[in-house]
Amino acid sequence: MSRLKLAIIGGTGYTGGELLRLTLTHPHVEVTQITSRSRMGEYVTVAHPNLRGTSVGNLQYIRPDDVKQADVLFLCLPHGEASKQIDRWSTLAPTIIDLSADFRLQSDEAYKRWYGAPHPNPTWVSKFVYGLPELTRARLSGATYASGVGCNATATNLALLPLVRGGLIDWNKPIIADIKVGSSEAGSESSDASHHPERSGAVRVYAATGHRHTAEVEQMIAWSAPQPARPELHMTATSIEMVRGASAAVHLFLIPGVTEKDLWRVYRATYKTEPFVRLVKTTTGIFRAPEPKLLSGTNWADVGFYISDSGNKATLICAIDNLVKGAAGSALQCLNVMKGWDERLGLEFTGLHP
Ligand SMILES: NC(=O)c1ccc[n+]([C@@H]2O[C@H](COP(=O)([O-])OP(=O)(O)OC[C@H]3O[C@@H](n4cnc5c(N)ncnc54)[C@H](OP(=O)(O)O)[C@@H]3O)[C@@H](O)[C@H]2O)c1
Repeated sequence: MSRLKLAIIGGTGYTGGELLRLTLTHPHVEVTQITSRSRMGEYVTVAHPNLRGTSVGNLQYIRPDDVKQADVLFLCLPHGEASKQIDRWSTLAPTIIDLSADFRLQSDEAYKRWYGAPHPNPTWVSKFVYGLPELTRARLSGATYASGVGCNATATNLALLPLVRGGLIDWNKPIIADIKVGSSEAGSESSDASHHPERSGAVRVYAATGHRHTAEVEQMIAWSAPQPARPELHMTATSIEMVRGASAAVHLFLIPGVTEKDLWRVYRATYKTEPFVRLVKTTTGIFRAPEPKLLSGTNWADVGFYISDSGNKATLICAIDNLVKGAAGSALQCLNVMKGWDERLGLEFTGLHP
């Protein structure tokens, strides 16, 4: 089988670099074009020195305007850029996966509410399938356009999905998602906020309320709840001393009578055949709950759950690597699903300990 030719648009950034790394072990694809406006002509290893000595080490950045036909485009651009040029990108490849938030929300109203303006290119939105295989696998299969996922939304969605599908949540009470995130979530461009003396050691609440990824969780609930639900969902995101990783603690109320056994049942039912979701809930060892440190570089999402003594409250935990399961890894997993390949291709790195 000849390999599909991939182009990465926005290849100096963190998600573009991760895609390049992940494709190295993928038997059916090769990256043949990669763009940068600021590093045009440079070898990719200047921006991504971890790739020295690999088969992509001699790849050089080209201008976005010089991209030629490819089989697949991965758009790894800042928010708003993909939708500006999607008409042009669509002439260059039959398959496109956009990692930004541009095509994640299927409701125009939700987009306007959370992104502060109407969608700039609304006719394209319905052509994209939301790219979380655990949620939209059937629609991704054979699809030509997929969106990426929000990393904090993914940690929250994968924690919640089994309970939403299983109808175990008391929707009359609020759901609180408290998420700790690493610095790479902000991308490779530096800012005052990322300056080392300001960032290092900080526990910085950067979205106490109104985090935009709330919209992706509301969308998941609308698609997955057996009965229409009107969730009152609050999300808080806090930057902590970590480069990679997102860890969500989701607090909620259960409908009367739900037991820990019921939680085991819905988690097992939802995830027993998932290639990248593990249930982590042990009573021995140091890492008894999901821990992002162990997931660095991997496509795993580890999920766990706890029920209060009174039995009516649950705390759900999900940890991921924001750049992999929260971005480039999910995007590659989507491509595998779209093309009907083994979903694990390119994504089998198991992580490091310690
Ligand atoms: N970081 C995460 O954890 C994460 C997780 C999930 C989703 N995402 C989403 O994935 C996308 C990429 O994120 P990232 O962290 O990789 O960002 P990043 O590190 O800032 O990289 C952005 C890339 O886009 C290029 N670029 C910027 N403006 C451009 C333009 N107008 N036209 C063409 N190229 C442009 C940049 O290179 P040049 O300036 O040299 O062209 C760079 O290669 C974002 O939409 C982000 O929201 C990120």
